[in-house]
Amino acid sequence: MDSHKKRVLSGIQPSGNLTIGNYIGALRQWVEEQEHYECYFCIVDLHAITVPQNPVALRNKTQEVAALYIASGLDPDKVTIFIQSHVTAHAELGWILTCLSPLGWLYRMTQFKDKAAKQQQESVGAGLLNYPALMAADILLYQAHAVPVGDDQRQHLEFTRDLAQRFNSLYGETFVIPEVMIPKAGARIMGLDNPTAKMSKSEDSEYHAVYMLDSPAQVKKKIMRAVTDSLAEIRFSDDPERAGINNLLTIYQALSGRTTNEVAQQFEGKGYGDLKKAVVEQVNSHLEPLQTRYNQLMREAGYLDDILAKGAEKAAETAERTLNTVKERIGFVPGKPRR
Ligand code: TYM
Repeated sequence: MDSHKKRVLSGIQPSGNLTIGNYIGALRQWVEEQEHYECYFCIVDLHAITVPQNPVALRNKTQEVAALYIASGLDPDKVTIFIQSHVTAHAELGWILTCLSPLGWLYRMTQFKDKAAKQQQESVGAGLLNYPALMAADILLYQAHAVPVGDDQRQHLEFTRDLAQRFNSLYGETFVIPEVMIPKAGARIMGLDNPTAKMSKSEDSEYHAVYMLDSPAQVKKKIMRAVTDSLAEIRFSDDPERAGINNLLTIYQALSGRTTNEVAQQFEGKGYGDLKKAVVEQVNSHLEPLQTRYNQLMREAGYLDDILAKGAEKAAETAERTLNTVKERIGFVPGKPRR
């Protein structure tokens, strides 16, 4: 890997089935970026346990997400893919940054407010509140210049930047201040059953999300049932009444790589059924080859484990360099080197 390239880090929680929102908002950008940056992509299991997880499901999903990274087109020879809990520096810097995170900043996070609201107050874990400090640790350990994420992570990135600046001003220049990288099309894919809410992998309802591992028939069924409106006019719009059609157009645009104008022209005067069929075709033409690669990967015993082991080793090397500097700056007594 070319050490002169700028660095990128991003991650996905193994907390459910990955959706086309994760694909469009995150994975697809990563595949582009691997050509231009030195990239670190992790599966963030420490973040997943900020809400209750079933241990068997967590283990399976973690492996599934790793395989989906590669099936989506990430090349393990070009990028570093690893499981967050395999690199202990994340938990260590996460703690240090938790201690530096003002409670006021943490309570303001919309993801915390949304997720906490879904649970009984007494059972909300402290990890959910401290989540952004751990995410900041993920990013800052690698001195990442850019973080490719969907629109919903914008606030966490702002938090990371603020915290990095706070550390730098208290202890001297230590961290690179990262930039957020949001895709132009598809930064916020909405739920098919409720186009005013973000499509999410942790939503139970059957017609909410298209999953990356859905069969072509499931994709068709879900998209053909997507909520629209009765205005019978296809155009991009930010009117909440028209959110369903806008969402379908956005999915189509993001996957086809066409411009807003091209897409608007293509569907001018067409019916909602035509648009839905075109979206089904686009989604399936992306998912089918990806699923073939996924199935091959899952059959090659040991291949994935090998990639994850090498990835963790490479990631740990980079991460520990930063962590050691941080420990020194804050006044920890150096311990014996582990190797
Ligand atoms: P997570 O697991 O919720 O989502 C993973 C990535 O997918 C994007 N995404 C979407 N993009 C467009 N439309 C949607 N409906 C949609 N749903 C999800 C997310 O924006 C994200 O980029 N906090 C992060 C995980 C994380 C992380 C990090 C990310 C932990 N540490 C360090 C970047 C850097 C999260 O919950 O993502």
